Amino acid sequence: MKPTKQFLDELWESFMPLYEVAEIQTRRFFNNHGQDKEMLRQFFNIRVCNERWNMVELAQKVANLPIDTDPEVVRLLAKQVYDEAEHFRLVSEILEHLTGEKTDMNKIYHPNQKMGAGLLGKYEAQDNPIALSLYQFMAEGRASHIWHTMSKVANDEFIQTRYARIARDEKFHSKIGRLMLEKICVTEEAQQQTLEMVGEMIWDLVEISCVSLGDFKTIPDDAKQIIRDAYGEPPRQLRVEF
Ligand SMILES: [Fe+2]
Ligand SMILES: [Fe+2]
Repeated sequence: MKPTKQFLDELWESFMPLYEVAEIQTRRFFNNHGQDKEMLRQFFNIRVCNERWNMVELAQKVANLPIDTDPEVVRLLAKQVYDEAEHFRLVSEILEHLTGEKTDMNKIYHPNQKMGAGLLGKYEAQDNPIALSLYQFMAEGRASHIWHTMSKVANDEFIQTRYARIARDEKFHSKIGRLMLEKICVTEEAQQQTLEMVGEMIWDLVEISCVSLGDFKTIPDDAKQIIRDAYGEPPRQLRVEF
């Protein structure tokens, strides 16, 4: 068994190609569509729904935490619920800034737009503490990389300042996941289970990247190469052509 810190450091390193791809796709989206109001509106429609869903899913999780959960973990996750509500508000403001209209969630919301937050629901359903903590560690880390990139390339100061703030929060949320994993990954068996789950989650997040940052159907060749070099072939049929 590896020392827990080393195990988690190496795990974090192994996520970098996934994050790199998300950064490439973010940069590409803003290069290609950064001046296209309709594309931007669609892009942020997805984001606003996702922040709202993050808040809802996490609030439910906090409400159902086992009674013996570390009080510090309880506090941090409850704080994250508030952060996600704050992100929901910030993205809603971005939409108003772009469209000049009040954001009407009744018109925007569609269950298919659950994206990453939908994944959280999937892992929640597995009722496995590794799945949730790992999702937190990995997916929030990815979000932080994307929003950090966006705060650099968005070409609109209103959007950039808000996403710099959101990126900082997501980084902190990822650290909460790591904190939880530090308590779990202390046995050979738990580390093995974590690695197996990474093997599944990587591909879920590759799909999410293509669906939420790309053209919904394909993965660009440069991104595909990076993913292949790092993680090999997908173990299942993906929702996007691979
Ligand atoms: Fe968020
Ligand atoms: Fe978050």
